[in-house]
Amino acid sequence: MSDVIEGKREYLANLRIEAEECGGSERVGKQHKSGKYTARERVKRLVDPNTFIEFDKFVTHRCNQFGMENKKYLGDGVVTGLGEINGQKIALYSQDFTCWGGALGNAHANKICKIMDYALRNRIPIIGISDSGGARIQEGVESLGGYAEIFYRNVKCSGVIPQLSLIMGPCAGGAVYSPAITDFVFMVEKSSYMFVTGPEVIKTVTHEEVTKEDLGGAKAHSEISGVSSFTCKDEDDCFERVRELLQFIPPSNFSKTTKKWTSDPVSRENSKLKHVIPDNPKKPYDMREIILDIIDDGNFLEVQRDYAKNIIVGFSSIGGIKIGIVANQPAHLAGVLDIDSSVKAARFVRFCDAFDIPILTLVDVPGFLPGTHQEFGGIIKHGSKLLYAFSEATTPLVTVITRKAYGGAYDVMASKHIRADVNLAYPSAEIAVMGAEGAVNIVFRKELVGLEGEELEEKRKELVSSYEKEFANPYKAAELGYLDNIIFPEETREIVYKYFCSLEHKRHYLPKRKHGNIQL
Ligand code: HXC
Repeated sequence: MSDVIEGKREYLANLRIEAEECGGSERVGKQHKSGKYTARERVKRLVDPNTFIEFDKFVTHRCNQFGMENKKYLGDGVVTGLGEINGQKIALYSQDFTCWGGALGNAHANKICKIMDYALRNRIPIIGISDSGGARIQEGVESLGGYAEIFYRNVKCSGVIPQLSLIMGPCAGGAVYSPAITDFVFMVEKSSYMFVTGPEVIKTVTHEEVTKEDLGGAKAHSEISGVSSFTCKDEDDCFERVRELLQFIPPSNFSKTTKKWTSDPVSRENSKLKHVIPDNPKKPYDMREIILDIIDDGNFLEVQRDYAKNIIVGFSSIGGIKIGIVANQPAHLAGVLDIDSSVKAARFVRFCDAFDIPILTLVDVPGFLPGTHQEFGGIIKHGSKLLYAFSEATTPLVTVITRKAYGGAYDVMASKHIRADVNLAYPSAEIAVMGAEGAVNIVFRKELVGLEGEELEEKRKELVSSYEKEFANPYKAAELGYLDNIIFPEETREIVYKYFCSLEHKRHYLPKRKHGNIQL
């Protein structure tokens, strides 16, 4: 090799080293001390070994204000590229907090936009790792423009490629709107923060005092706001969750989901389910027990586990067919539908539908939650989101009514009437306008007037029992063809699998339109 070539090779090798040094050992040390990996360490830990190929490693900014001309980091504070996770191609960007606190300037934003465009053109999921002080103050409006370019691409990618946001540090101001548009937000306990305005601004404007943890930490967003889809104990746990999630979702809306390998026999009887539903319809039970027994290997990836616990949503598979599950949870608020649970389920249904992931809906719902808090909060608007999402869904829909399906909530929870493909019920199902007690009080009010004490109780019991016989069962709905089948709980796994198999080539189209007008 000639000296000239040798020199050029050495130059490149040195540039690579410089780019990989991030913002220097002191800042890297600070990053480690705060329990965080650097941007490059994150990439390495997330993707399959030796699969990462980088883009734009030598990009620098062109800002000449505030002495920035003398302060350049190769890569401009963000690592972008392609890799594989579980052998599946992904694109990613990872903000480097050791370079200007990961703050986003024009060149930094252009790098993110380039990798997003690449992901979209090539139909592969995009993963963004955020750890940033937000808009790079020295670059002013160019930073704001950069964010807007990212937001615009988030919207363009929505429903075409899955978008995952991993929040691994601060994410403040308008910057939060990129993760907000993406499909799944992962937060790490004690090191992720998301807020539109931070504690200092809040104190000035509203005089409220709140810590950044209480305001925008993982707990706040997983339990109160619902912004976070997954809360992770640490960064490694977060990468593990991402790997898990990617096993259940296709790389784009162009590709059909592949089957997941399982050794769990599809004909396995769900004998445990014979005893899950209590005799007393007022008694709660844990819907998770039903889910875990009917899916493959008890492998369920729950989304938004700590938010609106009266509904359960998540990914799993039955006989290897990857599915989304939406299930009322009678163990929490009796499984009632309220504002938060409706919005949570609606967004999940829309994700599944966008990527053609079949949905299994398990129903035990006493209705919508009554009260001024719900009405003034807009349960009418928010409840309609779930109705809209299920009605619009063209992905295969199989519904099993395990117990209560009352009132409007019966219609909403993927009923036949809004074009679910298959509706099934257990013998314990009660499909009615409302529960027996409430119905008797309204319909037989006159019969009860004037009665007191034991006599009143006797009469009420008699009326409740005749109402239950007439309405609190699945047979009227079966007679009308609103149910396709009434099944024993122990048959659920096998029967649901067979119905999903029959729907493999489902084609259902909506009328041509620019877009619907979902109640936002
Ligand atoms: C330029 C920034 C920066 C920013 C941090 N840095 N934020 N540089 N623009 N926005 C730099 C710091 O100068 C410092 O540089 C390094 O990053 C690390 O910051 P520290 O403050 O030392 O770190 P820490 O104590 O951990 O605090 C992190 C922080 C804090 C909480 C993020 O830096 C901070 O509050 N930054 C400002 C956040 C902010 O208000 N951003 C604008 C939000 S509004 P050196 O050289 O010393 O290492 C927004 C609008 C988006 O983003 C609009 C989209 C439409």
